[in-house]
Amino acid sequence: MKRAIIGGTGVYDIGDSTTREIETEYGIAVVDVLNINGCEIAFMARHGKGHSVPPHKINYRANMKALEQLGVKYIYATCAVGSLNENYAPGDVVVLKDFMDFTKSRPLTFYEGENKGVAHVAMDAPYCRNLRDKFIYHAKKTGLGIKGDAVYVCTEGPRFETASEIKMYKTLGGDVVGMTNVPEVVLAKELGMCYQAVGIITNWCTGIKGQVMEHDIKGIMEENKALVTKTFISVLTGEMLSQDACNCKDSLLIL
Ligand code: HPA
Repeated sequence: MKRAIIGGTGVYDIGDSTTREIETEYGIAVVDVLNINGCEIAFMARHGKGHSVPPHKINYRANMKALEQLGVKYIYATCAVGSLNENYAPGDVVVLKDFMDFTKSRPLTFYEGENKGVAHVAMDAPYCRNLRDKFIYHAKKTGLGIKGDAVYVCTEGPRFETASEIKMYKTLGGDVVGMTNVPEVVLAKELGMCYQAVGIITNWCTGIKGQVMEHDIKGIMEENKALVTKTFISVLTGEMLSQDACNCKDSLLIL
């Protein structure tokens, strides 16, 4: 199966499916397999069903390796994000175009040296341009409004940021903040996969406007997840995807 969706906070299943446990050298990952009009799509709940795994403890390598073992080449992902850009308000949907990594304690690569080898992966286009263009095109058909593209700041979490940190991220050029897209996007690229994440804005970041409230996050995710996943499925079942349209599969320099 070549296509997958990774659901972030608030997106824990997307329809009738069969659950499979995939064993990898990094641990076990759980994948739901959906069959939509003969097209198989793997669905993975990033935080586990019922949101049981915090951002810094997610086994990103097992998750991405499991998708690779299933033959996946094209991945869409959702992520709940806070906004530090006044033009992007809670409830808005943005497509990620670049990231800044402020994580601290996570395995960041499959290439750990020794028998795993050493490699450097290019980050000129971390997200797949082809999947991004197709998402924007299909959003017009599904009626999903996209507010714009965004630079994603990845923090270690699980705490929210201080007002001073948010001020710094804003000065640096960030638009939205989340806790999970790194290393997920990096590992996808190391495996030569096409990966595009879509941010669903759940709150203003600390000190921007108002307060970060838990019920805001849950309510807003409910409103948006159906249209975002509908758009993912529209692309994944309706397009002949090819890796010739981007350079995602050729981004690794192995030493
Ligand atoms: N900061 C970090 N991660 C988040 C936020 C935030 O404000 N909102 C949703 N995920």
